[in-house]
Amino acid sequence: MTFSSKISAPRVYNSVLDTIGNTPLVKLRQTTGVIKAEVYGKVEAYNPGHSAKDRVALYMVEKAEREGKIKPGATIIEATSGNTGFSLAMVSLLKGYKCVLTVTSKISDEKLRLLQSMGAEVIVCPKDAKPEDPDSYYSMAKQLKAEIPNSYYLNQNFDLANREAHYHSTGPEIWQQTEGKITHYVCCVGTGGTISGTAEYLKEQNPDVQIVGVDAYGSVLKRYWETKEFDTKEIYPYKVEGLGKTIIPGCVNFDVIDKMIKVHDRDSAKRARSLASKDGLFVGYSAGAALQAVYKMKDELTENDKVVVLFPDHGSRYLGKIYSDDWMQDMGFINEPKDPSYNSILYRKYKLRYKRIYNKVNYYISTKMGI
Ligand SMILES: Cc1ncc(COP(=O)(O)O)c(C=O)c1O
Repeated sequence: MTFSSKISAPRVYNSVLDTIGNTPLVKLRQTTGVIKAEVYGKVEAYNPGHSAKDRVALYMVEKAEREGKIKPGATIIEATSGNTGFSLAMVSLLKGYKCVLTVTSKISDEKLRLLQSMGAEVIVCPKDAKPEDPDSYYSMAKQLKAEIPNSYYLNQNFDLANREAHYHSTGPEIWQQTEGKITHYVCCVGTGGTISGTAEYLKEQNPDVQIVGVDAYGSVLKRYWETKEFDTKEIYPYKVEGLGKTIIPGCVNFDVIDKMIKVHDRDSAKRARSLASKDGLFVGYSAGAALQAVYKMKDELTENDKVVVLFPDHGSRYLGKIYSDDWMQDMGFINEPKDPSYNSILYRKYKLRYKRIYNKVNYYISTKMGI
């Protein structure tokens, strides 16, 4: 591949919303050395809102509009881990709706600022509140729906339009991109929309495609898939954002999932960083979780397999987390000396210099201007 061979007549779009979907499938070359199969990443960061949730927000809002559930001047409400919020804020903005989002305090600062930049009103709820607690982000969203006139609660965990979005877009794209040769689809499970909708489409084309769900230690989903029991003993705090749940979302179609793999925060963080530093794919934390799952099943894979791993979002949302050595150290995920690509001497030098300038400006404002 040369630069000039890449250039073709670029398309012109009427709206940023028209650029949603049709994301690239990229072969992983460096990150998957010990894995015999061909492994491809479906890189959802190429969506304009930098995540797979653009597909969901646009599809769900347009479906609700068609069904007369969203009317002009409406306020759209959602409980979200951040990505749906950003996509929904973008869709609402462009379609002229107000957007109110409830999030948990697990959300990164970067994600919070992103939501606000698109004009959304954000309500941060305690991360450890049980779903049924009145101050949980789920309960808060329901309460807002009851209080705000002409409002619509998207409810991505239970409205099946979430998985329809992927049935109509992500599934067909992957089938075409692999020319029907996909053997395994590996995907994180949060609301279950991405895995279920995509898997339903892929299984319709070829029932032998193996669907692998990725869950977090601390979430109830894998145990529920195994036993159909909601086991509260499975619940404890974890760091990866987006995958895993402390409720059973109605959007997960457990019947299309052939295997579930749980992954740890530390391994997921390291895999995400290796996707950036080895394959040049600057993707989010849950992409590392999905890749870790591929490693955990590596002995089952052969050179004849074509594995597609869904990478849900972009690394920029985790600069203060997995892409920060300080955070990685605080979490006990890395020890000194650190990966030089993230912790160069130059970085240290500039960090110190900017800190000094910041302190001087602060001092000036508080003493000279009396603020
Ligand atoms: C970063 C990230 N990864 C994975 C997921 C899981 O996707 P889904 O909700 O479709 O199961 C989400 C969902 O919010 C997410 O934000």
